[in-house]
Amino acid sequence: MMTHSPLSPLLSLCAFLSGLVLSMTPAISQPVYSERVMSLLRQMSLEEKAGQLNLQAGHDPDVDLQSRAPISSPLVEQAIREGKVGGVLNIAGAGNTRQLQLVATTQSRLKIPLLIGLDVVHGFRTIFPVPIGQAASFNLDLIGAAERVAAIEATASGINWTFAPVLDMARDPRWGRMVETAGESPWYTAAIARTRVQSLQGLHLSDPSSMLACAKHFVGNGATEGGREYTGANLSFRSMRDNELPPFEAAIGAGIGCIMPAFNAVDGVPGIVNKRMLSDVLRKELQFTGLVVTDHGAIAELPFHGVADNLVDASLAALTSGVDMDMASMGFGPFLPDAVRSGALNGDLLDQAVLRVLSVKERLGLLDDPFARHDQRREQMLLGHPDHLLLARQFAEESLVLLKNDHALLPFKRSARSIALIGPFGADQDHLMGPWEAAGIHRDVVSLREGMTRILPHITIRTVTTGYEDKADPKALAQAVAAARASDLIVLALGEKAMDSGEASSRANPGLPGQQLALLKAVARLGKPFAVVVIAGRPMIEPALYARSTAVVQAWFPGSQGGEAIARLLFGLSEPVGRLPVSIVRSIGQIPLTHDKRSTGRPSPGPPEAWASGYIDEATTPLYPFGYGLAYTQFNYSAPMIINADEADARTYRIKVTVKNTGERAGTTLVQLYTHQRLATIAQPEKQLRGFTRLYLNPGEQADAIISLNRDDLSYWSTDTNRQAAQGWIDLMTGPNAADTKTTALFVR
Ligand code: NOJ
Repeated sequence: MMTHSPLSPLLSLCAFLSGLVLSMTPAISQPVYSERVMSLLRQMSLEEKAGQLNLQAGHDPDVDLQSRAPISSPLVEQAIREGKVGGVLNIAGAGNTRQLQLVATTQSRLKIPLLIGLDVVHGFRTIFPVPIGQAASFNLDLIGAAERVAAIEATASGINWTFAPVLDMARDPRWGRMVETAGESPWYTAAIARTRVQSLQGLHLSDPSSMLACAKHFVGNGATEGGREYTGANLSFRSMRDNELPPFEAAIGAGIGCIMPAFNAVDGVPGIVNKRMLSDVLRKELQFTGLVVTDHGAIAELPFHGVADNLVDASLAALTSGVDMDMASMGFGPFLPDAVRSGALNGDLLDQAVLRVLSVKERLGLLDDPFARHDQRREQMLLGHPDHLLLARQFAEESLVLLKNDHALLPFKRSARSIALIGPFGADQDHLMGPWEAAGIHRDVVSLREGMTRILPHITIRTVTTGYEDKADPKALAQAVAAARASDLIVLALGEKAMDSGEASSRANPGLPGQQLALLKAVARLGKPFAVVVIAGRPMIEPALYARSTAVVQAWFPGSQGGEAIARLLFGLSEPVGRLPVSIVRSIGQIPLTHDKRSTGRPSPGPPEAWASGYIDEATTPLYPFGYGLAYTQFNYSAPMIINADEADARTYRIKVTVKNTGERAGTTLVQLYTHQRLATIAQPEKQLRGFTRLYLNPGEQADAIISLNRDDLSYWSTDTNRQAAQGWIDLMTGPNAADTKTTALFVR
């Protein structure tokens, strides 16, 4: 078995304590590989070695994946037989995957089993809310439980490797992949990273319900300029360390077995040839011993970046920069053997990469029992199990964020006799799952209309599906207005289609597409109160939406059980507990605007002002701050108190906040802790989330929330190589969101 260097945790701990880190560069840790793995390597030809580094589609080009019929792929099978394939992707089903595994383990010369990978990003058959929605729950237990279910279902279907979790920081709603992230807080994303890795990989990677997780996209993918997909980012190395790396460090600390470099360039260097990040940081400093796999076709993109002349050079550059496995560029197999023979490539580097692939296969238990994850009976029993569906509904409920609720319009009275359900998504089953639907099935998705019918079987629902068209449809608009006029309640289900969010769906204007705003305004002109449910992978930057609606629920893409979850929230069978993991800006010009923006020399008062940091035509505050979300009741927060402020060498501080439910319904509030170091060598973020806890309180009830603050979390990178421990006065701010906090100060020696 591969052993991890025992030095790594110790090294980082000592470094933390001293406050001065990395004045020396550690060496790459050399894992010890098992005799079984070493012996396989010794038997391999150069072609077989390069074959192990090839990850390619698991189906022939003409296969129709949508049909879900058993797949036959003679071309892929032949390549596997010839030892040219180390892993396949984008194929699922215990039967289909078993067939390929069978060819690999019985018909290839060395009988090495395959890695079988898929993007299992938020569920497999049972689809949970998209990651940004999951993050809105601020419920790590639920996130962990959902990932376990995702792993149980996917592995039952033959998958042993997921290209998840996504650990990119999302600070720009124009970037479509915000939907896959945990939002704008590095600290929170790191906490989620730990949870996801532990749940996906399980206690032992060899367990048949565990799969290899792959953290991506290393690193800085979310910082792409202007939110433009696949575009470069400009990040200082120090801010990379402060903001982009912590989630990856957390994933590595939790034992993640795979990392995927980003497509995009940071400071001009594409992720797969970024030696500084892949070698100095990932391998040497973070002592990562697992597998590095490229993103889809990333090697073939190097000539387009203009940093390699052709696929041969690109393949060599990627391997020598620290990539082990090539996803879909198909350059390693044809070119690496000759490169070793001609001396252009050091054979040891090739061997290192092969060892990492073989070692991961061994850790997954594939060398002992390659068929443990290809059990059709298990697959039939587990996919979409009722317990999984129930969890998906509960999770969807917790992901919903109530942004506005004038005149306490919500929750609706269940005695209402009719409801108008207007917009593109009222009866929709095609988009609620979001852009990564793995093996989700559209016809099984619970639409919002179906959800309402389930909880109120007798209510009359007037559904008018319209709004996404480019051109106005006066007839549909009139129908919508008539339905609204005739009904006791009005709900508009607006937002963006699944494929207008996610990868390759950056939007310069991330508002409501098509005629949706016109629809909203037409309904608003009736003068009746109405609620809007926003289905989208990001917040909609659409001021009129928030100004004209009576109530707004940000529902993200809530997953396969989403419709019932939304209906339950609207009618008060559940309460709003979700909070924003991203700030919602007032206008596109404010982007990026996050709760952790740094202090400036001309502090902004908030409203537009000249000669201060900000704009003369726009506020510097977001419309809805990070951490924001209403409940169906109100709460009163005390100022924070540090329980153990006098403990000079405390590693953890305990912060107490007293909260009272001053409203008339029971409800949940998310007590949040932010910190700010007053004096440092680098201008510090104004606020950084450092902890949170939930309180459920009955009307009139009061209770104390205790939040732990980890002293090590207060350190920051003062230079590229120096991590500075916290010192002096630290403001501790607590409240129900980042913009509504009370402060006390902690002195750290
Ligand atoms: C491209 C995406 O960037 C990546 O996240 C994904 O894992 C691969 N495609 C494979 O689907």
